Amino acid sequence: MAVKPVLRMGDVRLLQVSQPVAHFDTPELHTLIADMEDTMQALNGAGLAAPQIGVLLRVVIFGIAANPRYPDAEPVPQTVLVNPVITMMDAEMEEGWEGCLSVPGMRGLVPRHLRLRYQGFDAQGAGIDRTVDGFHARVVQHECDHLDGVLYPMRIRDLRNFGFTSELFPGETIEDD
Ligand code: NI
Repeated sequence: MAVKPVLRMGDVRLLQVSQPVAHFDTPELHTLIADMEDTMQALNGAGLAAPQIGVLLRVVIFGIAANPRYPDAEPVPQTVLVNPVITMMDAEMEEGWEGCLSVPGMRGLVPRHLRLRYQGFDAQGAGIDRTVDGFHARVVQHECDHLDGVLYPMRIRDLRNFGFTSELFPGETIEDD
């Protein structure tokens, strides 16, 4: 298992549509997920999509532990999600700040659906079916966007709300993603 280099915005592989995983519980899939977990942990990320390490398969991982320094950030369970399908529950949107390991050092204010249902599979092929809202829903939308070649800056409505983390939030220590 290994920490992989994360592709950065500008690399055309981040703009591709990734392919569904055809076979579950294979050594290749387990290695991919272990590499993604190692990479996300090493960079203190909240989520990572396979195309960010150059593998164009529909696999994302995400999860945020409860952190007393950020009482407003709801914990999100550590999740491996393969071949996700998202269904929006309604049209309501909410703006929130996002970062991305492929856009290091920056933050942007991104509108996302407030409530959604996501379905997919874990590495063994067992079904996942959750209806979530708020920050959890935001993380899922961000990560699944990567599978369709969409990076969060493409969704920012007003580019005045896009910039370097150090300038937007002076004095705060914020993770890279
Ligand atoms: Ni990202």
